[in-house]
Amino acid sequence: MTINEKLANAINDQINAEFWSAFLYLSMACYWEQQGRTGVANWYKVQFREEQAHAEIFIDYLHARGGVVKIDPIAAVKQEWSSLEETFSDTLAHEMEVTKRINALYALAEEEKDYATRQMLNWYIAEQVEEEHNVQDILDNLNLVKGDGTGILQIDRELGSRVYTAPKVN
Ligand code: FEO
Repeated sequence: MTINEKLANAINDQINAEFWSAFLYLSMACYWEQQGRTGVANWYKVQFREEQAHAEIFIDYLHARGGVVKIDPIAAVKQEWSSLEETFSDTLAHEMEVTKRINALYALAEEEKDYATRQMLNWYIAEQVEEEHNVQDILDNLNLVKGDGTGILQIDRELGSRVYTAPKVN
């Protein structure tokens, strides 16, 4: 069944939001690369790729449902941070906003009785739990070391080991 216009528009907005997330994380990756925190930069580069994958999943889904995909311009993203804590706090706040957006999309799918979209969004709901949890963990570690050099180096090394794996949607 072809997706209705209201839901297609909402998914197109989410495609744009996912690309905006990708740009935000790419900006963070570049900033921290320039500051010599290559592990943090690596973590954000993986995050950048994940967000692009999130957008692509929505694009493929919209095509599968006969919807029209609109690739809109991406709004500007922040380019500088004063600390790692600020960066990861921004990230957590952003992911919480994304969770709200996904929940609103789910509520709309329910309202429109579009059960296929509701089912597809289950993957994103679980993904958001993981996203928030991962960032919270890093923030907790940063708060624990309180700017201590050895601690920061250890966190940087750990974040440097993150490897991108393409998300598998059921
Ligand atoms: Fe696309 Fe970080 O959620």
